[in-house]
Amino acid sequence: MHFEETRSQKLSEASIELLERNRRVRDGKQYTVPSPASYPMQWLWDSCFHAIALSHFSTLDAKEEVRSLLSAQFKNGMIPHMIYRGDGDLLKLGDGFVKIDWGHETTSTITQPPIIAEAVLAIYAKDGDREFLTECFEPLHNFFEYLLSARDPRGNHLAGIINPDESGEDNSPRFDGVLGLPPVQTLQQNFASRMKLVEELRAGNFDAPFMKQFFWVKDVPFNAILVKNLQALSHMASILGDIGRAARYADKAELVKQAMRERMSDEHLFWSTYGESYMKIKLETWAIFAPMYAGIATREEADHLVRNHLMSEQKFRTEFMAPTVAMTERTFDPEGFWRGPTWTAVNWFIFRGLLDYGYTDEAMLVLESTAALLEKSGFREYYNPHTGAGLGAQDFTWGTLVVDMIARAKEYSSRTSA
Ligand code: GLC
Repeated sequence: MHFEETRSQKLSEASIELLERNRRVRDGKQYTVPSPASYPMQWLWDSCFHAIALSHFSTLDAKEEVRSLLSAQFKNGMIPHMIYRGDGDLLKLGDGFVKIDWGHETTSTITQPPIIAEAVLAIYAKDGDREFLTECFEPLHNFFEYLLSARDPRGNHLAGIINPDESGEDNSPRFDGVLGLPPVQTLQQNFASRMKLVEELRAGNFDAPFMKQFFWVKDVPFNAILVKNLQALSHMASILGDIGRAARYADKAELVKQAMRERMSDEHLFWSTYGESYMKIKLETWAIFAPMYAGIATREEADHLVRNHLMSEQKFRTEFMAPTVAMTERTFDPEGFWRGPTWTAVNWFIFRGLLDYGYTDEAMLVLESTAALLEKSGFREYYNPHTGAGLGAQDFTWGTLVVDMIARAKEYSSRTSA
């Protein structure tokens, strides 16, 4: 797996330049905003991506990114997905911007995919700082225990999300049916139905299980990320010599894996489900590849996914891959936010799965696409998968994950050629 050194160097320089430019220190907390003009707050999974990217440049800054997230943790263990600091930044957004009433002054009251244990381990892998692991361990333990209990009240070993925004893919067509929205819709329509869920949440006194009657989805990527991060947490526990919790999280990861197979899989693919009866949402988005990232897919399933879906020119094989929704779906829209465009963090997940299963050519293709998008259109929120045109927010930080992809490709090559 070869990625040209001069390109790598340039992407790396552009990445750290952006990460530093988007860095903020407010109320004594240091973090990176995803996009100064569009998203001048701190976001949960964004900050985890930033911490992973930053770990390649400065573990000190990567640690601050995690610490600022943990400082907003709720008493019940939940880490909110948005943290508002420095209202001045919000005011710059002007009239079009709506500050959502989450029922809480400084943060939102919902969460986002729990990729934080991997972020902490990525930092540890760079500098071996056990004290940092110790510092993060209890808060992370509380967060994951929250997910395993409040988000799984019946003990079925799958975590539920109570709003599409918790998936990180706000208006993904995966959630249309559950929200009662038609396949062709406006972003405003979609936003209105998600805001209604926020109202219900406030009315229900922020009780996650209460939300089951309005929106209760067991999402494939969220649970795949949960598996991977329970394993990371188990690994952290064993490094810290906590054998009991190392075993507990390894078991929990296994249980979620099994439950995903039992409730979500059907003929080679895993589908998100909704409601207490686990109705499968058979709509093809990039989520079908998440089981590869988490090591849940069998070899046969992975083969099927790669050959018949990812590399299919009817589905996900575009000039600038990978589209977030299969082109065969009625809802596919190459410029429609989470309804078709290519997003760099999604490529990062897909790339990792491909690499883990040894699909090096396909992994390189995804890395090449990611790099080409950044070189052609800069750091944008998302891109047209056919033309590579940049869309949405500017100076968007997720593209900095390319540094991690390149590092993994290099590491893979040296491991396999050794
Ligand atoms: C959008 C994305 C979400 C992200 C946020 C900040 O809402 O859908 O995943 O966390 O922007 O970048």
